[in-house]
Amino acid sequence: MIDVAIVGTGGIAAFHAEALAAHRRRARIVAATDVKAAALAAYKSKWSVPAVYPTLDELLANEKPDLATLCTPPGLHAEQAVACLSRGISVLCEKPPVLSLAELDAVEKAATSSGAFFATVFQHRFGSGAVRLRRLVGDPRFGRPTAAVCHTLWFREDEYFAVPWRGNWDIEGGGPTMGHGIHQFDLLLSILGEWQEVVSVAARQAKPTDTEDLSCALVKFANGAVATIVNSVVSPREQSFLRFDFEHASVELDHVYGYTDKNWRVTAAPGHQSTVSSAWKQGPSGTPSGHKAQFAEVLSALSSSTAPPVSLADTRMTVELIAAIYASAFTGTRIRRGELGPDSPFYHRMNGTGAPWN
Ligand SMILES: NC(=O)c1ccc[n+]([C@@H]2O[C@H](COP(=O)([O-])OP(=O)(O)OC[C@H]3O[C@@H](n4cnc5c(N)ncnc54)[C@H](O)[C@@H]3O)[C@@H](O)[C@H]2O)c1
Repeated sequence: MIDVAIVGTGGIAAFHAEALAAHRRRARIVAATDVKAAALAAYKSKWSVPAVYPTLDELLANEKPDLATLCTPPGLHAEQAVACLSRGISVLCEKPPVLSLAELDAVEKAATSSGAFFATVFQHRFGSGAVRLRRLVGDPRFGRPTAAVCHTLWFREDEYFAVPWRGNWDIEGGGPTMGHGIHQFDLLLSILGEWQEVVSVAARQAKPTDTEDLSCALVKFANGAVATIVNSVVSPREQSFLRFDFEHASVELDHVYGYTDKNWRVTAAPGHQSTVSSAWKQGPSGTPSGHKAQFAEVLSALSSSTAPPVSLADTRMTVELIAAIYASAFTGTRIRRGELGPDSPFYHRMNGTGAPWN
């Protein structure tokens, strides 16, 4: 049985409790903490949490869970992750996992020295459509990936940004690149693998934020594929759209906040209908994207003492792309992977020396 502590009992923490309830034979919530007493009391009562604490420090002084899930605002993730990891407690952290590459290095250092694991919640990797497609990359029946589209076209009313941490570089760490499109392009990276270089633009078009409300990037991958990535919260008809063109097939995913198998569409190139269709049908099916699917994999990994998904290495690929999108947009230059080290302001803060509009 894996003992879990929930850190932050707001909106997304309910998804963690639901996912853990679905896996009740393998895991249980043993404790929770939130600085808001009312939120903590409501969570305790709804999910029958045996022990609650007003601070993470008090929880850590009294409990030794196997896993802490961080459901707090993004600006707290790195510090809370380091506090848990340094006590040997593995961490599953909500997106965005950290605010900078510097924070990610601090988290990795704590994980390496304690031997505990750090993983990020990117639940779109775990629906059966994504699992199926990942297995087909490199399969000669689909051929080489050539082009991809990854568009997060979402809309947020102005009131959404009234919450103090939203749209704020210091606490949220960025706009839709950091907080919204991250789900889609993390899925893109999980399928196409290592990215190599990026050019991008970012703008603040309409929303009452310090951060961008739109970014557009062109990304080249090590396997030769080229992708366009758009991250928007100014798009009234909401859509999350990913498209992967292989030599012999196009695969599309059209959804908004989560998908089932029905949201995927595969089209074969002329002459490849039967091989493409039989390859696609052979994969797993029936699992929607979501926390339940990711928790299943995380719990299995922890039970066998292996690194749970999404691992630190995978997290780094995504966080580094975010930093590169901002660096390219704000400096007007092409950014290559590995280029943003401690000498770059974009290693320390996603807005580097400051957004051009501030
Ligand atoms: N995976 C997803 O699809 C998804 C969806 C929504 C939100 N999120 C992420 O989940 C995280 C939380 O978002 P939310 O919408 O649940 O926010 P929320 O504001 O509803 O909940 C955050 C909770 O953290 C508590 N908190 C603040 N400081 C704390 C501290 N020091 N110690 C303990 N608790 C503290 C707050 O009181 C609040 O109850 C964010 O990183 C967000 O991006 C992920």
